[in-house]
Amino acid sequence: MSFKIVEQAPARLNRSELAVPGSSPKLFEKAAKSAADVIFLDLEDAVAPDDKPQARKNIIEAINDIEWGTKTLSVRINGLDTHYMYRDVVEVLEACGDRLDLIMIPKVGTAADVYAVDMLVTQIEAAKGRKKRIGFELIIETALGMANIDEIATASRRNESLHFGVADYAASTKAQTTGIGGPNPSYGVLTDKDGDKPRDYHWGDMWHYATARMVVAARAAGLRPVDGPFGDFSDVDGYKAQGRRSAVLGCEGKWAIHPSQIAPANEVFSPSEAEITKAKRILEAMAQAQKEGRGAVALDGRLIDIASIRQAEVMVQKAVQIAG
Ligand code: GLV
Ligand code: MG
Repeated sequence: MSFKIVEQAPARLNRSELAVPGSSPKLFEKAAKSAADVIFLDLEDAVAPDDKPQARKNIIEAINDIEWGTKTLSVRINGLDTHYMYRDVVEVLEACGDRLDLIMIPKVGTAADVYAVDMLVTQIEAAKGRKKRIGFELIIETALGMANIDEIATASRRNESLHFGVADYAASTKAQTTGIGGPNPSYGVLTDKDGDKPRDYHWGDMWHYATARMVVAARAAGLRPVDGPFGDFSDVDGYKAQGRRSAVLGCEGKWAIHPSQIAPANEVFSPSEAEITKAKRILEAMAQAQKEGRGAVALDGRLIDIASIRQAEVMVQKAVQIAG
């Protein structure tokens, strides 16, 4: 390990993160009773400009009056390039109680964006005598944000998680696609016509770089990496496949833009019984190996060593966290 100790963000389950428009208060009670780990009440893109003032009022009322149980509760504010953002922070934070856990900042482009919101939140917390420190969720969804991702990740001690906002990222990078997440049929390779094998077309994952880059930046800063939306909520298999590949890369969870995506997210981002059993067997085998003075042994015909202990511990710790 490096001599540098990476401080970890507060441990929270973040397998499913449900987006709820602040302009649709009829959805709030149902969201509170859902199985989502995190809920963000949206003031940004799901709310039309004329509805923003009312959406703020709805959100304040909902934070104060609804029984949210053990859920992590967040509010997505508008971007720093809009004139809505300062009112979002001031109005919501001045009027809502300590039940709010996080603020989600969209389209973060530079570390200074985070600093600016931190300054505002710090002043309001002090002025209002708020006891609980608000944490930040940061959406990486622009080329600028991706280019500055490492500085953004470490810009504030409030930072808890990075999120990949695939739709805005596609727009910002001028990607030739209109889908929200998921694969694109044009992103693939056709095997060479000169080869001696039959030609074959392989679909690729056009979001691989961005997702992997975000995982590295988040983990290096002790934050949770969270995969963003998947627009086709009628395609459960497609959603699960996207979730699985981001889970394998190290993401902690995925957004649910529809309640039907909550259960698949919780399933995909929870280690299975088989994975937990395997991890426990690795820990047992390595404990035995260490007693015998050996650093590596074979388990089921495969090599395991001291690094395997760390991998297995990640799996077991996640299972313990989920069990509560
Ligand atoms: C989320 O905000 C996205 O743009 O995908
Ligand atoms: Mg977005």
